[in-house]
Amino acid sequence: MAPQHKSSIWFYATSWLSYFFWHMFKWLLRRITGKCELQRICYNHREGAPRTMRIEKSLRCSKSTLLQNVLSREQHGSVQECVSQVMKLKVINQEAHPIFALRFGQCLEQIWSYQALVKEVEMTRLLRYDSLNETHETLLMELWCKLVPERQLPSRITKEWSYIGFQGDDPATDFRGMGMLGLHNLLFFASQYRNAARHVLQRSHHPKFRYSLAIVGINITSMAYHLLCCGALKNHMYNTVIGAPSLLHFHLTYSYLLYEFDKFWFAEEPADIMEFSRVREKFLSQVSEYLQSEYARLKLDISDENMLAPDQG
Ligand SMILES: *[C@@H]1O[C@H](CO)[C@@H](O)[C@H](O)[C@H]1NC(C)=O
Ligand SMILES: *[C@@H]1O[C@H](CO)[C@@H](O)[C@H](O)[C@H]1NC(C)=O
Repeated sequence: MAPQHKSSIWFYATSWLSYFFWHMFKWLLRRITGKCELQRICYNHREGAPRTMRIEKSLRCSKSTLLQNVLSREQHGSVQECVSQVMKLKVINQEAHPIFALRFGQCLEQIWSYQALVKEVEMTRLLRYDSLNETHETLLMELWCKLVPERQLPSRITKEWSYIGFQGDDPATDFRGMGMLGLHNLLFFASQYRNAARHVLQRSHHPKFRYSLAIVGINITSMAYHLLCCGALKNHMYNTVIGAPSLLHFHLTYSYLLYEFDKFWFAEEPADIMEFSRVREKFLSQVSEYLQSEYARLKLDISDENMLAPDQG
């Protein structure tokens, strides 16, 4: 028998055995503690990612298709209805376990909202920037006003756009793959963290470490988008929002990434913009590693109070 063949039989045997023992172990625990796995998770693990990630995994690996289906919102009405169904299926008494119902419901809310957020973000990304759309044009002009309030644009099509880091004389062509998501992200950062954004804009003109803020900003949108879609932001979102993560929380995550990337860029002391790919890779791998922790929580930490002044107007 070829060694490869032997090892694949060994592989199947061990995975079948571990599957068997895992279910056996769960069954035994249920006998001893009188609680099913979902209950044990809800009682033994901290609110946020530690609890919701385990609930999600437990449902995904469940033998019952009914429980697996709980993961997709489409097939259910409200969170409450779904919780009742699961409790019936698992023969958990509603009156005796109100805390379970509450905590399990919170987990479901987070799981479903994350999925809804992925869809919403994708829809925004697919919207292309359209120069004929007045709403789009207004948002773009607003971005300029937030970043450079002291100076008016001479015209809509102008080289001046390069001051905030667009490429040509018409930003419309720079959004490309990220569509309106790129513009909304930038505008959120520029208006909610006005002073931080202007500080970052100034830094982007540094004689040695200069970069194109808008172009890099749109690239960071693609980073945030990919992290969201592959599920890498789950730990962070579940720890940050007890309730339903929404587009606002995506914008906040983006602001964190852009602000931190700027710091990282300077700390790396790149020779020129040609090093962007290398620095981006390194930054992304550090962020990704941190996000794997079940305590992960990205939080914009702006030490200078002045930089956080939220926009009132
Ligand atoms: C402009 O774009 C928005 C979405 O960004 C859309 O809701 C609206 O219908 C568009 N307006 C026109 C006139 O196409
Ligand atoms: C972002 O930058 C990376 C590295 O240079 C590049 O491969 C990628 O295509 C860029 N993405 C966008 C949307 O600009």
